[in-house]
Amino acid sequence: MKIYSIAIDGPAGSGKSTIAKILSEKLGIIYVDTGAMYRTVALYCMENGISTTDGKAVEKALDDINLGIEMTDGVQRMILNGRDVTSLIRTAKAGQGASDVGTIVAVRDKLVEMQQKMAQKTSVVMDGRDIGTVVLPNAEVKIYLNADVEERAKRRLKDFSAQGKTETLEAVVEQIKQRDHNDMTREYNPLRKAEGAIEIDTTGMTVDEVAEAVMKIVYEKTGEK
Ligand code: DC
Repeated sequence: MKIYSIAIDGPAGSGKSTIAKILSEKLGIIYVDTGAMYRTVALYCMENGISTTDGKAVEKALDDINLGIEMTDGVQRMILNGRDVTSLIRTAKAGQGASDVGTIVAVRDKLVEMQQKMAQKTSVVMDGRDIGTVVLPNAEVKIYLNADVEERAKRRLKDFSAQGKTETLEAVVEQIKQRDHNDMTREYNPLRKAEGAIEIDTTGMTVDEVAEAVMKIVYEKTGEK
């Protein structure tokens, strides 16, 4: 069977992980959530008194970080130095920390190499900020998801309240704007639409509608359905 890759990029809350999970189930391929890897590096820093904006200190800490990724029943679990941190990385603080460590060249180089290795062995749908541009520039399918910031904040708010966390819409809008700015203006491999990527503005679309639109593109490019 031929190995193929689907790259999904876009800003925070654009629906990447929701759509990637649906594609992974429908197509029977592995979903790799690369944001979780940056979040895990950030968590290590937060737990060990290392500032996520201190490039030198974070680079040094990389030697002490053993990052494991386990797939259990299609769910990606993040293992940090032998400890399962899958749920601990799902906080706004870890998201911001991930955006900070994502500006550091040594961090990106290490994680990108791991991601490329995963996609060599098996078909994947991978989401992040630099998948179509850097990690898998030859991916058969490249998608760029977008939506207006209010809608993205409302989706994040839903995720947070499902986890029992209370945040205001205004606070989440601000967090997202800050993160977008950080991710789009960093010097090394910033978030941008890859050459050949198909952009979908998901504002006002249901999950089913977006999934259907993306599946149509996948079918056209790969023949898979
Ligand atoms: O997708 P997410 O919200 O879990 O990602 C958290 C942060 O990690 C994001 O704001 C920027 C960084 N990131 C990155 O720089 N490159 C990726 N491929 C994935 C995430």
